[in-house]
Amino acid sequence: MDFDYAHKDTSEGERETPTAPFNKALFNDGVEEMLRLAALREIPVSDRETLTFLTTLLSALQPKNILEIGTAVGVSASAMLYVCENAHITTVEKNEKFYAEALQNFEKQGFTERVSAISGDAAEVLPRLSGPFDFIFLDGAKVQYVKYIPQLKRLLRSGGTLLADDVLLYGYVSGERETPKKRKMLVEHIKEYLSAIISDSEFRTVVINAGNGLAMSVKI
Ligand SMILES: C[S@@+](CC[C@H](N)C(=O)[O-])C[C@H]1O[C@@H](n2cnc3c(N)ncnc32)[C@H](O)[C@@H]1O
Repeated sequence: MDFDYAHKDTSEGERETPTAPFNKALFNDGVEEMLRLAALREIPVSDRETLTFLTTLLSALQPKNILEIGTAVGVSASAMLYVCENAHITTVEKNEKFYAEALQNFEKQGFTERVSAISGDAAEVLPRLSGPFDFIFLDGAKVQYVKYIPQLKRLLRSGGTLLADDVLLYGYVSGERETPKKRKMLVEHIKEYLSAIISDSEFRTVVINAGNGLAMSVKI
């Protein structure tokens, strides 16, 4: 691994949903190459089933203004821009090396004009942003998800969609697999997020067993 940060221990990435063999969309050459390199270098990026769900959803929604928390090297942001030709994306990344590499990847694909990449901690960046965003992809530090809710709610327009990734965390949150000791706190934080967003009367939420688990919340 050539980066300090990794959110996943690869031994935990083996869970495959029953639908994963069918959900294998192919993307443009740029995204395919980024996915290949990210896998080789163990950079944490969304898996193919998650990207398939994300891009299928966005093909229907066609949001114009997207916010992403957790750019990594720009794979999911590029996939979103690829399927939403008229979209602009604001994407926030804390790790400076990832941020720098994402900028290069956006440039290589001709996406620079359509991206506002921000280097920083989402907790500090979110209060400075002004929306409204049509779509938010929440894919940063899972422990922070619940704390972001008030800002995400402020930034999302009514009728907009918030998609949070990794909410089943290798099956630990759903109880399919026993949670290792080192993941117990993280599982608790994710459960807090799910409980808060599901019971929030301003959102209608569905949890989806695709990829590592997605929570899709529509602001009503
Ligand atoms: C799972 S990766 C994102 C993958 C990316 N969305 C993709 O699919 O291509 C999570 C990213 O969130 C970043 N991150 C973690 N904590 C953060 C924070 N507090 N603010 C902003 N980014 C953060 C990590 O550095 C990491 O690159």
